[in-house]
Amino acid sequence: MRITLGVTGGVAAYKAAELVRRLQQDNFTVQVVMTRSAREFITPLTFAALSGQKVITDLFSGAENGEANLESAIEHIAVAQRTDLLLVAPATADILAKFARGIADDFLTTLYLASTAPVIVAPAMNVNMWNHAATQENIRLLRDRGVTVVTPDEGYLACGMIGPGRLAGQEEILAAVRSVLHAHRDLQGETVLITAGPTCEDIDPVRYITNRSSGKMGYAVAEAAARRGAKVTLVSGPTALETPAGVTGIDVRTAAEMHAAVLARFAQSSIVIMAAAVADYRPAVSAGKKMKRGKEPIALQLESTTDILAEVARDKRGRLVVGFAAETDNVAENARKKLSAKNADLIVANDVTAEGAGFDVDTNIVTIFSRDGRDVALPKMTKAEVAQRILDEIVRVRAAQQKNAGELAEAFNAAIKESSH
Ligand code: PMT
Repeated sequence: MRITLGVTGGVAAYKAAELVRRLQQDNFTVQVVMTRSAREFITPLTFAALSGQKVITDLFSGAENGEANLESAIEHIAVAQRTDLLLVAPATADILAKFARGIADDFLTTLYLASTAPVIVAPAMNVNMWNHAATQENIRLLRDRGVTVVTPDEGYLACGMIGPGRLAGQEEILAAVRSVLHAHRDLQGETVLITAGPTCEDIDPVRYITNRSSGKMGYAVAEAAARRGAKVTLVSGPTALETPAGVTGIDVRTAAEMHAAVLARFAQSSIVIMAAAVADYRPAVSAGKKMKRGKEPIALQLESTTDILAEVARDKRGRLVVGFAAETDNVAENARKKLSAKNADLIVANDVTAEGAGFDVDTNIVTIFSRDGRDVALPKMTKAEVAQRILDEIVRVRAAQQKNAGELAEAFNAAIKESSH
């Protein structure tokens, strides 16, 4: 797993060097990001030597000698996507304030906003700065947003004062890392089957019917599920995307191939998520040779494909099945219809005509409909964030399913015991 360690400017910055070694001993890959003021206390070279990775120091690396390029400018997005946990140690009052207020004026603060990974901050500062109402307010704000704060230790501080403000011990920080990552691996033990992308239905050897799906939504779900500990298989139609790390990819082309690939893996799966835009119709006959141009109009006879989602969800046997609904009108009504007609546990509906939603964009606007009547309407967010929210709902429904199954089993056992008396 990859941890991004943000080092900010305080006397305790030197302690982050030891933290790198301890994290590596726990088998984490560590990417260090330093703020400008951190470099006043310790050099990037120390961290590069310890971590074996280039240390990131600037939002636009090379900017100082006029060589900033697009690649460096979007690096924070790439690092954000690769990060399983953002740990900032030591965290100054300044970085806490920037995180709390959403100021993104350097690499670390921009990364914080761009990442969906869990965040831990380990503050270290002068006692009066720590006790200041502004810092305490920022800490409260960050905690409310789910950031884990490793409270500073009390003791003799570098400024000569005594009180809270000393960077927490390495063991305490490592315990927070393990506990946060454990909590975020809430799909451990689950086998998740995901479909993504379009399908292509051949008219002849050179022409086919397809749709605008890029696969981004399904791939984002696959990547997030793998990070949360699931064993993930991604059945994908043709896309330009790479299979995410830790995911088993299966490439298919047509709806029939996707159907066969899903059926072959359905039995071993505990959760199935169908984000693919599967063709509802295919040419009834695919010509063996390229069709010749003629003067007369021609008609293309289409036949319907199998509704893969409806077919597998008919007999779920304890599996949790999630469908998507790509709608252009009456989104809620159509999504609810699909929830019951396809016997899904959840339907993720998107209005594919809305700006920043649906096909081939990096964001989506979805509502998640569930059988228990809970509708979760989400604002526009990146597909990576949408993926996390879908998985949150899955975890919630799965926990309820498992509780019900446990209660049923208990009641059954009690009835058997009763009848044998
Ligand atoms: O790939 P992107 O560019 O990121 O775009 C994302 C998306 C718009 C494709 C995605 O968010 C989405 O909405 N996916 C479902 C597209 C779709 O086919 O929707 P539908 O309402 O037609 O189908 C409903 C459900 O049935 C879907 O889960 C679909 O996978 C499934 N289905 C449909 C037809 C079929 N023959 N078999 C199926 O299993």
